[in-house]
Order: sequence, then C-alpha cells, then structure tokens
Amino acid sequence: MCGIIGAVSHNDIAEDLLVGLERLEYRGYDSCGVVLLQRGNLSRARTVKRVAQLRLEVAELQLGGRLGIAHTRWATHGAPVTANAHPHMSPGDDDARISIAHNGIIENHDQLRSILKKKGYVFKSETDSEIIAHLVDSLYDGDLTDAVSQAVTELRGSFAIAVVCREEPHRLVGAKHGMPLIIGIGADGNYLASDVAAMPVGVRQVVYLEDGDVADVQLREHLVTSADGRRVGRDVRPVDGNSAAVVLGPHRYYMEKEIFEQPRAVSDTLQGIDGITPELFGDHAWRAMKQVSSVLVVACGGSYHAALTAKYWIESIARLPVHVEVASEFRYRDWCADDNTLVVAVSQSGETADVLGAIHRAKSIGMTHVLAICNVATSTLVREASMSFITRAGIEIGVASTKAFTTQLVALFLLALTLAQIRGVIDDEAEGRHLTSLRHLPDAMNKVLELEPKIVEWSKHLASRENMLFLGRGVHFPIALEGALKMKEIAYIHAEGYAAGELKHGPLALVSKEMPVIAVAPNDFLLEKLKSNMHEVSARSGRLFVFADHGCGVVRSDGVDVIQLHENYGPLSPILHTIPMQLLALHCAQARGTDVDKPRNLAKSVTVE
Ligand code: F6R
Repeated sequence: MCGIIGAVSHNDIAEDLLVGLERLEYRGYDSCGVVLLQRGNLSRARTVKRVAQLRLEVAELQLGGRLGIAHTRWATHGAPVTANAHPHMSPGDDDARISIAHNGIIENHDQLRSILKKKGYVFKSETDSEIIAHLVDSLYDGDLTDAVSQAVTELRGSFAIAVVCREEPHRLVGAKHGMPLIIGIGADGNYLASDVAAMPVGVRQVVYLEDGDVADVQLREHLVTSADGRRVGRDVRPVDGNSAAVVLGPHRYYMEKEIFEQPRAVSDTLQGIDGITPELFGDHAWRAMKQVSSVLVVACGGSYHAALTAKYWIESIARLPVHVEVASEFRYRDWCADDNTLVVAVSQSGETADVLGAIHRAKSIGMTHVLAICNVATSTLVREASMSFITRAGIEIGVASTKAFTTQLVALFLLALTLAQIRGVIDDEAEGRHLTSLRHLPDAMNKVLELEPKIVEWSKHLASRENMLFLGRGVHFPIALEGALKMKEIAYIHAEGYAAGELKHGPLALVSKEMPVIAVAPNDFLLEKLKSNMHEVSARSGRLFVFADHGCGVVRSDGVDVIQLHENYGPLSPILHTIPMQLLALHCAQARGTDVDKPRNLAKSVTVE
C-alpha cells in the first residue's frame, strides 16, 4: 500500500529516494512519483508505471537535489492515473511552493476542498491528498512546521505526511495520525519514511513517531512536537539490518524465495526456545494468561486462516474455547466483552488497519489483555499490544504471505502449549514430544519442498482452469482455505476452500470434469470421512488432485492423481500441508504469466480500511 520516503541531506538524494521507492514496491502500488528541490524550484516526475520507469524519467529530466520527497500510491480516491500520483503541489504545478506525499485517507476532504476552492485553489487531481498541499500552503507564513502543525488540526481520518517547501531548503516536515511514519538518522542527512525498509543503508538509527506528532527534520537534528504542542523526545532505536531480504538471489520471484526460506524461518522463530513458558509472550504474560477463560483471535486474509488453525490446537490441547473473528467484522459488531478473554491479534505486518481497529475495539469494551503475533517487532500492533511474540520470518516481500503464515502457525502452536501448561492440562512428556516435533519441523519442511517437480507437473494441467475447489477436514480445513486464497491471489483462478463434509450441502452441484478438486488428505482420524467425500467427487466425474500422507491408502486411479507427503506429522501436519498449496499456486501463476510478487489490485500492507 502507499509508501513515503523523504530526505534532507548534504548530498544529492535522488538515488536514495529511488532506492527507497524500490524497497517500498513490495507493499503494492499503482503509481509513483518524486519531487526534488532543484535550483530553487520544486521539480517533479510521476508515472503510472513501475519505479524503474520513474528512474528513467528522473535521469531524462536530470532531476537532483538535497531536499525531496517520493511516494508509491495505491489508489483509494481517484483512479491510478498520473494526475492522481503523489507528490502533490501547491498552489500550482509551475509555481509550487509546497509539495506533499500522503498515506491514509482524509475523511473530511470534500468539506476542505470547497473551503480551499473558495480561497482560489485549483485542484488538479481527484485525490483526498491534494487538499493537504493546498491547506498547508494556505496556512504558510514563513515557517513550514507551524503551517503543518496548524493543518493537521483540520484533518479528519488517517494520515502520515511528508512535506517540503521551496523556501526552506534544509527542512522536511512530517506528521502522523493512524499511519506509520519514522525518522531515519543518517551521517549526511535525515529521512522520513513509512517503513524502515525504505531507509538507506547508512541509516542506523530510527525514531518511531506517535499519533499527533509533528516532526521538524533538519540536516543535523530532528524536533518532535506532540499533539498538545509540547516538544517531546521520542526513543531513538537501532535499525536491524534487513537489506539481505530484498536480494532475490537465484530465485525468479520473492514468493518462490520465501517459500524455500520457510525451514530457516521456522528454525529462527524457534531459536532460543528451550521450553514452554509464558515469558515467550512477554514479561507479564503469565499474569494475564493465568486468568484467561477464553481466547478471541482477530486477523485478516491469510493470517485469519492461521488463526482458524489455532482454534483447533488451542481447543484440543489447552481445552479453552476460542472465537476467531475477521478483524474488519469484529471491529464493528456487538460483542459480549469479558475481561478474562485473551485477545490475540495475528498479523504479518502489524500495520493492517482492520486488525488495529479490532484491537482498539476490544480494548474499548474492556478486553485489555492483547497479545500480538507479528513479524515486525517495531510495528504499530506490537507497540499497542500488552504482550507479543515476534515471528522471525524476516522481511516478506511477495504480496502473498508464505513464510509469515507458517511462522504464525508455529507461534500459535507455542501459544496452545503455553495455555495448556498454565491450565495444567498437559504433562511434561506430551509437552516434550510437541517441542521435539517442532524442532524437527524444518527438516520435514525441506522434504516437502522436494516435491516441487511433481507439483510443477500438476500445474501444467491445472493452470488452464478457471475454477477449483479445495477440500480439507478438521485442522486441515483452514489449510484448504489458505490454498484457495493463494490460488485466487496470484494465479487469478477462482478457487473456493470448503470443509469437505460441506460438499454435499451445496458445492457438489459444481463438480464436473471441468472443476478440479484439490484435497488435503493427511493420515489422521478424519481420513476415512475425507475418503467418503472424495468418492462423492469421483462419482460425479470430478477430477481429484490429492496431497496424501504416506500410508493413508489413497492411490492413483482413473480421475485421481496423488502426490504423497511423508508420514503424518501429528498436530503440526497443517504446517507441512501448507507448502504444496503455496507451490501449486506459484506454479499455476507462473504458467499463466501473472505478476507473482505484485498481483493486480493487491497490496502487501493494507493500511486502509
Ligand atoms: C494472503 C495475504 C493477505 C494477508 C492479509 C493480512 O496471502 O497476504 O491476505 O494475510 O492482508 O495481512 P497482515 O498479516 O499483514 O495483517
């Protein structure tokens, strides 16, 4: 989703801004642009193509400068056309004094637009963001920080903004409300960005701004003022090196790289865990968890499927009731609040607007024990939660979540064991057995990854289809949902995930030779039930593609293709069965020639509702 990078430096910053935009590409965008203060004028380049095209335009226009802002836009208000791309200028394009880049949504844009039009401002775009440029210009009286501080008091909605002024060549101003914005401290200058990943390599320290903050970022210092007008010192934190993650190496796509990184990601997530203890989730977790009588998990998309899997684990291992809610629904519905509920928010990015909205809602109705399971230690979610577990998947660039999903499952399984221990419903021997299985998981994942060539063969047949069904039962039902989501997301094939027992309650009507059915068939206690469901498909001439555990007796026959995984992996089997789903979607997408890492219309970090 939208991303910002801005800089004020002793050196030319065009390259820093372009590299910053390239590093923000993984979030998803449909246009991009840059403004640089050059020979006293704000000069701009924008495109509805990729950052690589913007780079060519910057070179052609010979743009450079020591103060500037740049942006990747994911359209919300107004189509993805050049006129709507950021940065926006005010009062006009040729005589621009102010330029801004904005992430978020300004809810009172209509009202502000009419006021500004009456003052003579002419709007060049359909965006809500352009009003910020004119608003700041209308309030400018020689001090950009003052103008931005006044402007933000008139804005309703969510925003992170970076602003520059032609008349103040050594100053970059930022403001934040509900969207992340970070100051980067470098040797030759300072930066503002919506994501640490966008900061140049030389930035070793960052400052996370808080809602209501206005930041005056200058060459050698940064001054932060909070919403009540006080000068405040926000913590300066070291940056984790993460540039290796943006190197593709021998892989064709980040998604492929990330699928094959999963054994490493799981082993990093388990690193240093010698036993089950509530401290895995934070210093005060024991106090909160010991009084828990139910669990509510909120999440979106793939993370929601991880949460659904956790419901099976927590209910069977820890014997606690679990509710799993889509965050965008939970945040607006009535809920019977109970202070003894542990609220678990699962999110790769920790910036998903609906997940943040859901935890705000939970807190507002008195559910204060919030545990974040998140891949980004510095995210808003982790900062707002009272407990956290950080998955160590490493930065995930492909829009479709893979290694973040499987490491979320590992974290949620550890949570099930921890709750079971606190409640005294698991003995040491069973706990030890589960831990041993977790430790062997990376090896088991490597063996599943070796199945790739067989999956490539299947994809040659399946990629031409326009519809698919994914079936699973029990704890593997959410894995069928995840398989269908991946197929939709990156291969653009219409796919539905179903609990196999539901087939005869409707979807069986769709089954024909034209509708391939993918079945997740672990060798568990539900296998015989699943086999009956598969017979229902075969009897209607449906073509089955089955991922079956060794020993489960599902064999290749007319209309039934089988890829065999190794022995059943017990409760952790869903983690292994996820990998073939990811590889199948990847190879179908590749065969169809889609943009695997940046699927159309989607963004990595969904920071708007
Ligand atoms: C699926 C996918 C999305 C995300 C969802 C939540 O492959 O990537 O469905 O899972 O947008 O994002 P996070 O986990 O960052 O809250």
